[in-house]
Amino acid sequence: MQKGYFITGTDTGVGKTWATLALMAHLQQAGHCVLGMKPVASGCEQTAEGLRNEDALLIQQQSTIALPYDAINPYAFAPAIAPHLAATQAGVEIDLSHLTGSARALQQQSDYLIVEGAGGWLVPLNKASSIADLAWQLQLPVILVVSLRLGCINHALLSATAIRQSGCELAGWVANILDPQMPCLQQNIDSITARVPAPLLGTLPYQQQRNTMQLAQHLSV
Ligand SMILES: Nc1ncnc2c1ncn2[C@@H]1O[C@H](COP(=O)(O)OP(=O)(O)OP(=O)(O)O)[C@@H](O)[C@H]1O
Ligand SMILES: [Mg+2]
Repeated sequence: MQKGYFITGTDTGVGKTWATLALMAHLQQAGHCVLGMKPVASGCEQTAEGLRNEDALLIQQQSTIALPYDAINPYAFAPAIAPHLAATQAGVEIDLSHLTGSARALQQQSDYLIVEGAGGWLVPLNKASSIADLAWQLQLPVILVVSLRLGCINHALLSATAIRQSGCELAGWVANILDPQMPCLQQNIDSITARVPAPLLGTLPYQQQRNTMQLAQHLSV
């Protein structure tokens, strides 16, 4: 069976992309062929080649094999708004079977496929389905990225509960240090570790400038 992970987070802007890139690098360092995917992205820039999303471009660069942009990011929308609203504005309905087909094609070319979600776990993709449904259809174990800030314990526990209620496997969680001055940093990590029924796969340190290779050293998957 092809392997991979679905990366979700406690919110938007919590470090999913940094964790995705770090995990890809970590698996590449072990000699694996790793491809990445950002199935749905809003907040894209219009370029001569079409709409381009920063996360998807980074994932494209990190992938072991050169892939066409559309294979990595099948649904790209310009406004930086919730994906189902951006899709509606664009007159598009996000089709989960199209996304699972795209993911399968990437899995056939790789040892691992790392899929970055959009926002958090219950972000809607269309009238009926959400990120949770996409992750379930992809049948990938889920990694939850938690940015350490006030409120993160509640957000981590809510997300972990929802992931397991969706029927998905929670492979583990990643602590991301966005604020190195956060009070009781380690106690927050310990509080989540004690309550989430899945392992802490690593703590990503605060970096002024992203160094993916160095971030990769902090993961154990
Ligand atoms: N470990 C870190 N150290 C310092 N800054 C970080 C770290 N992780 C993330 N950031 C900062 O936080 C921002 C958000 O991170 P990232 O883009 O990975 O979040 P995301 O969850 O992927 O967001 P989105 O929901 O938009 O996809 C980054 O642009 C970066 O500036
Ligand atoms: Mg991202």
